Amino acid sequence: MARQEKSLRRHTTEQGQPLALAELRAERTVLWQSRSSLFAKNLEGLSRDMTRFEQVLRRVRPLASAHRDDLAQAIVDLSHLLTQERADLAHPYWSNPRFVSAYLYYFLPWNLLRLTRLFANLALPEPKGTQPLLLDLGSGPATVPLALFLAKPAWRRLPLHIVCHDRSQHVLRLGKALLAEAASLWQTPPWTVSLLASPMEQVAQRFLTRFDRRELFLVTQANVLNEVLNRKNRHQGLSQAMLSAKAWDDEEQASLFEQRLEDFLEEIERLFADGPQHLLCLEPGTRLGGKIMMHLREKARERDYLVDAPCPHNQACPLLQGPGLRTWCHYTMAAEALPQWLEEITRQARLEKHALSLAPLLLRKRAPAQAQTEDSARILSAAFAVPGLAGRARYACSRHGLLLLENAEHLASGDTVLLPRDLGRLRDRKSGALILPGARQAEPAKNRARHTGKRKKA
Ligand SMILES: C[S@@+](CC[C@H](N)C(=O)[O-])C[C@H]1O[C@@H](n2cnc3c(N)ncnc32)[C@H](O)[C@@H]1O
Repeated sequence: MARQEKSLRRHTTEQGQPLALAELRAERTVLWQSRSSLFAKNLEGLSRDMTRFEQVLRRVRPLASAHRDDLAQAIVDLSHLLTQERADLAHPYWSNPRFVSAYLYYFLPWNLLRLTRLFANLALPEPKGTQPLLLDLGSGPATVPLALFLAKPAWRRLPLHIVCHDRSQHVLRLGKALLAEAASLWQTPPWTVSLLASPMEQVAQRFLTRFDRRELFLVTQANVLNEVLNRKNRHQGLSQAMLSAKAWDDEEQASLFEQRLEDFLEEIERLFADGPQHLLCLEPGTRLGGKIMMHLREKARERDYLVDAPCPHNQACPLLQGPGLRTWCHYTMAAEALPQWLEEITRQARLEKHALSLAPLLLRKRAPAQAQTEDSARILSAAFAVPGLAGRARYACSRHGLLLLENAEHLASGDTVLLPRDLGRLRDRKSGALILPGARQAEPAKNRARHTGKRKKA
């Protein structure tokens, strides 16, 4: 039997009947076109700003030559701690000067590259009122406020009040100094910055005694939940309470971490006044980060939050349904707009990256659902070959569950596409995703010429 014919048998209707893709193609085939992208694609301004940002770092944390010589090794050591020796995260790394320099000169700028490209395109709530307040949880060196400063030039001149929260007073002071230097270098009026040092479990109580929650328009947290959930477990009697991506495969561990996610949401809700409130959570695009976001999303839905982004729907997460794919929710972009100074430091530490990934989630509480105007899907995965499908396919997330789009290599992770009215019922047996045929995109003329060996005219 021809390979193609054999592979088509893998696709079935909902009743389990074999169905040829050709039947579906005969009815209609769309050309997938990107309607919007999760990440900014015009990087000229970002590249300039990131080059300039080195001056901010040098002014706040000048490196003596001994520290400069040790920087690459300090970055490697901190990377090890943050990714592999996670049990030691209970000891705050901010009290170690080597790690502070490593974070500021390597982790902070790489996080800025990820976050600025997201923030530039994400529909965040607009700051309103006389002094709109943003609370950044686990702020570290004010990474999220700095990314907002770089990504949103229109916000730079607003009278924003930024409350930076962390358990470490030391890093909070560094963050405040970085924000002040950035404002000075970009010649904009500095934002009001307040520092709130407290453990996450007490943030609401401490916040409410000092600030007016009616001014609060956005609560953010980046790269924090994986540490907060990882805390030692004294009460539940579990011997192994380390958070890993596999934690959700074990019933007992899963219920512990789900309880901690609920505690986190409960703490956040104490901060919210009566009006609509937004919570933006960001985690690394690792399996662990993605899983945290997927489970946080489900807990939030149970508590009547709406999901504003990145999901194009408010249904249950398709990646938590069905036969259980090995993938997780995350989005990837090419590592671009890298300033030379960061390229150099990264090369010295031998931690080069070609792609950047992250798992974002923008939630909204106490706001009426907006009428869905169009039926769209968001591209989740890289392009890959699927036997029987033309070109390279990509998984996409939609209110109909997981989709497998044929001929989708020209799209990018995080792009949205408009869906046809009738999706058919052809499913991929392995993933359970609905298969949607797509037409092959015409190749740009210059590529055609290269492939056919024709030379371009000079
Ligand atoms: C990986 S850093 C992220 C910093 C910053 N948000 C960023 O994205 O670069 C995690 C931060 O969370 C803070 N943190 C961890 N557990 C915490 C807790 N239980 N309460 C308050 N802050 C916590 C740490 O001190 C650290 O600054």
